[in-house]
Amino acid sequence: MTKTYPYYLAGEAVYANTDLKVTDKFSGEVAYEVPLATPDVLDEAIAAAEGAAEAMRNMTVYERQAVLEHCVARFRERADELAEALCIEAGKPINDAKGEVGRLIDTFKIAAEETPRILGETLPLDISPRAKGYRGMTQRVPIGPCAFISPFNFPLNLAAHKVAPAIAAGCPFVLKPASMTPIGALVIGEILAETDLPKGAFSILPCRRDSADLLTEDDRLKLLSFTGSPDVGWKLKARAGKKPVVLELGGNAACVVDNDWDIDDAVARVIIGAFYQSGQSCIGVQRLYVHTDVYDTFKEKLLTKTEALKSGDPKDPETFIGPMISESEAERLHGWIKDAQDRGATLLCGGERDGNMLQASLLENVPADCELSAEEAFGPVAILEPFDDYDAVLKRVNDSRFGLQAGIFTRDIYKAQKAWDELEVGGVVIGDVPSWRVDHMPYGGVKDSGIGREGIRYAIEDMTELRLMVVRTPQ
Ligand code: SIN
Repeated sequence: MTKTYPYYLAGEAVYANTDLKVTDKFSGEVAYEVPLATPDVLDEAIAAAEGAAEAMRNMTVYERQAVLEHCVARFRERADELAEALCIEAGKPINDAKGEVGRLIDTFKIAAEETPRILGETLPLDISPRAKGYRGMTQRVPIGPCAFISPFNFPLNLAAHKVAPAIAAGCPFVLKPASMTPIGALVIGEILAETDLPKGAFSILPCRRDSADLLTEDDRLKLLSFTGSPDVGWKLKARAGKKPVVLELGGNAACVVDNDWDIDDAVARVIIGAFYQSGQSCIGVQRLYVHTDVYDTFKEKLLTKTEALKSGDPKDPETFIGPMISESEAERLHGWIKDAQDRGATLLCGGERDGNMLQASLLENVPADCELSAEEAFGPVAILEPFDDYDAVLKRVNDSRFGLQAGIFTRDIYKAQKAWDELEVGGVVIGDVPSWRVDHMPYGGVKDSGIGREGIRYAIEDMTELRLMVVRTPQ
């Protein structure tokens, strides 16, 4: 039966219409109906956020913590329901969906813990005779109403990475969740509506992209934080005016497997890094560089394990490969695989598509300028290439317009440090895939992968401004 959800305007549940039909991504049937907000509604939400800014700024630490702790408790109580909704709206295999609910809880828990740690410092200012008797102090003050746009691939946790630090920092916000997967964010809204947040402090409004211009352009909003595709993100930044912009965008993450690492361990980790939630992660393993000494053995083991992955209904706990978010996305990536083959690549396994189900696929000999190598695949595909020179392979990793995270399987501390020093990425993971993340670490990219960092404490920095007080003591 189709379930109807409201959107949240200035903290109130509103059943304005049922214009947005959210499908079960495996069956294709409409599972949920949700209202779509118009530009007028966004305008009202922004005005309410502006009106709530003072009350949010004046909330005490214990009041902000109480809101976040309430959310943690309610997410725990509703964990099964949340995982099921993710499994349906995103087609996320149920085990991955449960994992995301766990991370949602972590994210809010960390935000509650960070709330009393939004610190200032004291500065001795008496650097010369004219400054004798002066000292300075800084505090961080909330930046004001924020605009948030969250993506389809982690409907709960990537919305949480904006919402939870905003509450910790004392910023009202208007969030537009992805239209294909709005339910996770709307349940967060339902739970926030149970708290004592000031009136108008939050709005969660699914809307069409062409109705959302105000989120980017309106000067009443003091920060835009966007997670999604690079092309959309950079266009939004160009229209954002004076407000700072945080962009968490995509990449074609690389993973290097050197000849000193246990092959079975690397294969097991790469299977997860490349294929969990059908590769729809910005840090999913896309480019695999494997030392020639171990290349053939690694390839054979990886192929065997990839071919054994069970694909199908994401509600089945045995399923590892579920559907991609849409048929058009699966078609796009399938086209990239065919194009690479036409240009001389070898398909090692997979490569077949049925609707939005794309097989887990591995290729080698992919020309570097093929989209499959140079652009963000965002699906269950990885490409392999041998290397025998470590310095050269680091250059191969850097030979990309993206730079989010990289993974290096090496036991050599000097090689690890060299990767950390030389790779143009936001994070280097040694001994694991680039896809590894916990929610309090700084996360974000360089080059076309974005600007700014999330990870609660770092997001709070973006959501607050430094304010200085200078104190003169007459001498
Ligand atoms: C992303 O796809 O950008 C987020 C990955 C993650 O949080 O694990």
